[in-house]
Amino acid sequence: MELYKKFLSNNRAWVESMLNTDPEYFKRLADGQKPPLLWIGCADSRVPANEIIGALPGEVFVHRNIANMVVHTDMNMLSVLDYAVNVLEVQHVIVCGHYGCGGVRAAMSNQQFGLIDNWIRHIKDVYRFHQEELEEITDLKARENRFVELNVIEQVYDLSKTSIIQNSWSKSKSPYIHGWVYDIGNGLIRDLNVSINENSDLPKVYQFDAVEALK
Ligand code: CO
Repeated sequence: MELYKKFLSNNRAWVESMLNTDPEYFKRLADGQKPPLLWIGCADSRVPANEIIGALPGEVFVHRNIANMVVHTDMNMLSVLDYAVNVLEVQHVIVCGHYGCGGVRAAMSNQQFGLIDNWIRHIKDVYRFHQEELEEITDLKARENRFVELNVIEQVYDLSKTSIIQNSWSKSKSPYIHGWVYDIGNGLIRDLNVSINENSDLPKVYQFDAVEALK
């Protein structure tokens, strides 16, 4: 059987198994969503957001791109973030990178890959910010792994620098933003312990005054 047909037939089997456990399952989901979590992850096929955290449909609002980047001119990311924070009122935003990330590896190299080089340049900027620390690591695999972690931390801070997040924090101290790294070699997630829900740790130039203060 052609692979895509197999996936369609898998879908039928999945619906059947869900209805067996809960006949109202899809009826309830159709009523609306109120996910507590926004996931910003890598597009890599080995890092499926819901599956690796055991979340069901309706529990995670998801945005994925190459190397889990928060690029503040990316209208797609900003729209997802604004909707998640201001309409869905998610309590947590997770930036989840992963070891063995092709985007991060490409950013460390000098090779051209085509159009994607323009996207990868954002990752190269992260390398430049942390060049000294990274180049002290002589083992290339260890350097790449550290780069994956530093990239996640940088994206957590890039989220914090948006007015969407800071306005929400000034109102409710929510959402909490977290940085995680997934290990595709053993399936485990590592919390980088960079959780943040206020702007006081950001360099002063990135701290927005509360909107009320402008009036
Ligand atoms: Co990746």
